[in-house]
Amino acid sequence: MNKPRFLVTGCAGFIGGHMLEKLLAEGYETVGVDNFSTGKPENLARAGGGFKFIEGDLCDPAVSEAAVAGVSHIIHLASVPSVPRSIANPGESMRSSVLSTVTLFAAAAKAGVRRVVQAASSAAYGDGEKLPKTEDMPPAPLSPYAASKLAQEYYGMAFSASLGLDCVSLRYFNVFGPRQDPGSEYSAVIPKFITLMLEGRRPTIFGDGSQSRDFIYVGDVAAGNLAAALHPEALRGQVLNLARGERIDLNQLVEKINAALKTGLSPVHAPPRTGDILHSVADISRIGRVIGFVPAVSFDEGLSLTIDHYRKARSVRTGEKGTNPC
Ligand SMILES: NC(=O)c1ccc[n+]([C@@H]2O[C@H](COP(=O)([O-])OP(=O)(O)OC[C@H]3O[C@@H](n4cnc5c(N)ncnc54)[C@H](O)[C@@H]3O)[C@@H](O)[C@H]2O)c1
Repeated sequence: MNKPRFLVTGCAGFIGGHMLEKLLAEGYETVGVDNFSTGKPENLARAGGGFKFIEGDLCDPAVSEAAVAGVSHIIHLASVPSVPRSIANPGESMRSSVLSTVTLFAAAAKAGVRRVVQAASSAAYGDGEKLPKTEDMPPAPLSPYAASKLAQEYYGMAFSASLGLDCVSLRYFNVFGPRQDPGSEYSAVIPKFITLMLEGRRPTIFGDGSQSRDFIYVGDVAAGNLAAALHPEALRGQVLNLARGERIDLNQLVEKINAALKTGLSPVHAPPRTGDILHSVADISRIGRVIGFVPAVSFDEGLSLTIDHYRKARSVRTGEKGTNPC
């Protein structure tokens, strides 16, 4: 069998940039596609050359067809991944996740692609109290984003069952790591807190801070995607949690960042946000059983790598050479 040739959709995004780097480092021929709706050219630049980039929207059949040409495996990450943004604009959420997926999958089935690994989301579980989350729990989407990610899973099952495209949906929990966008209104909590606290500013927590998340380092997500892509047996539209299987609450997160930065900043508490989930932690036994994946990076290790990145980025921005900005 020929060496796999990969397509990474959403390659200019946070996870996409890390995925590109991993595939290129492992010597795979790789194509990337992105429309820069939330992605950034810097994420492509970091991966260096050595891959073909197509700028375009996957909802356009011509873009999807060009992207899948000659490809054997797809890591499908393209989406606009934000609960608040989907509440503000449900149509954008449906287009960026559902329409783009169906258009891509139709092109991929026609082109004879062997495997699609797609990014699904723990948002599919909703706010049920039962923990940890197992894949056989009934889904309960609370936001248009969650509904769109769930629809992606169903299309993965349908294309596997009736169009000969072998898909697997990995429900990522909270992914973090270097180069996650800290600047947007919709940013994930870790980059936002680190960048604020590096400037000596207090982070804002929506609610009392007891809400907890299952944070997984981005390098582990790239490794999990690759393991799923290369798995030798058919995966037939299965849904698998991709997480660490441990939870950290937001008050603990602030404490850990304070400890790493040697600061003593207390959070500001604001009212809870609509659609936000209170607790989330995964049962990761199924992904271990099915594809043999086990996360390799501890939360503290991942946090330390992430803080290093933002500290260096800040030194470059502020021109502080070789000094510790804290
Ligand atoms: N970051 C997390 O914690 C997390 C958690 C669960 C699931 N996910 C999923 O992982 C995937 C990647 O997330 P991320 O954090 O890297 O987000 P990101 O916003 O950094 O990356 C998404 C990329 O997709 C591109 N894109 C969006 N719509 C497109 C379209 N129609 N055509 C082409 N490109 C398009 C964007 O420009 C962006 O570069 C998403 O599918 C998201 O739903 C992420």
